[in-house]
Amino acid sequence: MPIRLSRIGHVALRVRDLQRAKKFYTEVMGFKIAEEDPEHGNDVFMSLGHDDHNDGHTFDLVQVEDPQTASPPPDRNGVGYAHIAIKVDTHDDLKAAHDHLVSHSVTVDRMIEHANQRSIYFADPDGNRLEIYYEYPTARELFRRGRGDRDFIFTFDDPVPPWATGVPDDWDPETTAERYHRGTVRTMEQSS
Ligand SMILES: [Fe+2]
Repeated sequence: MPIRLSRIGHVALRVRDLQRAKKFYTEVMGFKIAEEDPEHGNDVFMSLGHDDHNDGHTFDLVQVEDPQTASPPPDRNGVGYAHIAIKVDTHDDLKAAHDHLVSHSVTVDRMIEHANQRSIYFADPDGNRLEIYYEYPTARELFRRGRGDRDFIFTFDDPVPPWATGVPDDWDPETTAERYHRGTVRTMEQSS
């Protein structure tokens, strides 16, 4: 009998300043506080607030013992998590999330078209890396047939590609996305 897991319930994030993190995750990211228990470890359980059963408590913010000597999150050569990705249901929600982050002075440092989804990347006040993404309804079919991800940069002026709603019969992961994007958006290499 294999282990029968249900879903990821939460990620525990250590932060230097619990009040600052709590403000960011509620006011900027829109999380709800599911539990605060100062009597037990002084941490805060966050929830997306949609559904008590399915949300889990999503994030558990934990105050580090000594903010002065705390080490930062792992860098690109550090073992551990690279980022935590949170889904939105629509492309309009992704654009709204982007604009909301920017209006709260959060730096969105990458906006990537991944063939099966569009992702924006940023960090919380402690430097914990986060992603918000809109996954196309065709994502699983693209995974099966090969998505040919080339990490194209997108802007919200670029229309969502046509294979987001229907993968063409002649889909070629090596060339289809590249042909479509050539001349309209830049590759990561060209942008750096
Ligand atoms: Fe990701």
